[in-house]
Amino acid sequence: MSSLLAVLDAGDAQPAAVRLRARSYDLLGDLPGQTVVDVGCGGGRAVAELAERGAGAIGVDPGPEMIAAARKRFPSGEFRHGDAYDLPLESGSVTGYRADKVLHLLDDPARAMAEARRVLAPGGRIALLGSDWDTIVIDSDDPATTRRLVHAKADSFPSPRIARRHRNLLLDAGFTDPVVEVHTLVLTDDTALALVHRITDDPAWLAEQTERHRTDRIFVAIPMFLVAAQG
Ligand SMILES: C[S@@+](CC[C@H](N)C(=O)[O-])C[C@H]1O[C@@H](n2cnc3c(N)ncnc32)[C@H](O)[C@@H]1O
Repeated sequence: MSSLLAVLDAGDAQPAAVRLRARSYDLLGDLPGQTVVDVGCGGGRAVAELAERGAGAIGVDPGPEMIAAARKRFPSGEFRHGDAYDLPLESGSVTGYRADKVLHLLDDPARAMAEARRVLAPGGRIALLGSDWDTIVIDSDDPATTRRLVHAKADSFPSPRIARRHRNLLLDAGFTDPVVEVHTLVLTDDTALALVHRITDDPAWLAEQTERHRTDRIFVAIPMFLVAAQG
């Protein structure tokens, strides 16, 4: 888990990722006075950033290590153990819902959206952010192996292509006025190497990527699907 947090932290620090998180907060509307839940909050950064922007922010995550890390890193944040399917929140008690890089881990994202509807007050806003694991772009001298490895990694998740369905998922759950944006993160440094190591442990393929990293030729592009809508 700590290595996932380390990878998330390195990615979060990229200027494009900082801008993308800020955009996801903007799409929740005017934050001061709002109560926003960040579902699958991981290490808690979004909760701290939402609070800095004046929102009452609550982070929810089922991972005890994640909640412990979030509480340690952001002691003034509010973090609760809980699951996207069964949030530890009263019905209609939040005005904003956010989930970042979480829905691909769920076997039934539609059920999580029904739960989002339950906790959101009427007129509340929702923002979903995530990558489509079939569309991660990696430069390699062996594109066939690259395609196989990327797809094998995608297939390890319950809902690898959910990001391309964010809009339809929200419409099907009864949300309205969806706004769809795709922002591509480009990684050419240590974060790219860390990511390819999370995709596979294939030594030959990783050796090429390591050499590319050494010679400043590693290249990874990740389209991030950001969709917001009205409850
Ligand atoms: C890739 S991390 C993303 C963390 C954070 N949102 C971020 O952007 O850094 C995925 C997070 O989703 C959490 N998660 C996994 N299954 C979940 C579920 N059923 N409900 C809510 N969160 C879940 C994991 O514990 C983990 O913290």
